[in-house]
Amino acid sequence: MELLCGYSSICFSKYLKENGKIDTIERDEERAKEALENIKQMELSDKIEVFIGDAVEILPKFNKKYDVIFIDAAKGKYPFFLQEAIRMSKKDTLIVADNILYKGYVMSDYNKHKQRTAVRNLREYIKEASEDPKLETEIFEIGDGISISKVLS
Ligand SMILES: C[S@@+](CC[C@H](N)C(=O)[O-])C[C@H]1O[C@@H](n2cnc3c(N)ncnc32)[C@H](O)[C@@H]1O
Repeated sequence: MELLCGYSSICFSKYLKENGKIDTIERDEERAKEALENIKQMELSDKIEVFIGDAVEILPKFNKKYDVIFIDAAKGKYPFFLQEAIRMSKKDTLIVADNILYKGYVMSDYNKHKQRTAVRNLREYIKEASEDPKLETEIFEIGDGISISKVLS
């Protein structure tokens, strides 16, 4: 299977407003290098910045507010990513999380040891995103599940 690293950022870049920018984080150096190469080939290097490292360490250093925040990384860290996303949001920011239903495990009674932590954290993400009064959240059963939260204030 061919992996197109940077694919999401490249797709999102089509919808950037004039002078809009994308920041993306990748902790795997090889994938980050490949993403940089793909971004360069698409002539998007001035629009997409790739930060190499663990998002758990890098995100707390970000102090910008974003219009759209896309979460598509370690599932065990989704509740942390949600809190960071809320911190970097403003009214009408969209927080999008991919793989939120994780092969159907999240909405089933799945409790096997193997993916238990990921499933527990994805369930926690859904609970927090659904119950936070600052967010309006919808879960879509598309692909592996997508959650979209609109920040209300
Ligand atoms: C499903 S892929 C995402 C692909 C990405 N949306 C794209 O289009 O290139 C998940 C990626 O998240 C990265 N990742 C997982 N946990 C991470 C973390 N804590 N910090 C930074 N990157 C992480 C993995 O190395 C992997 O490349």
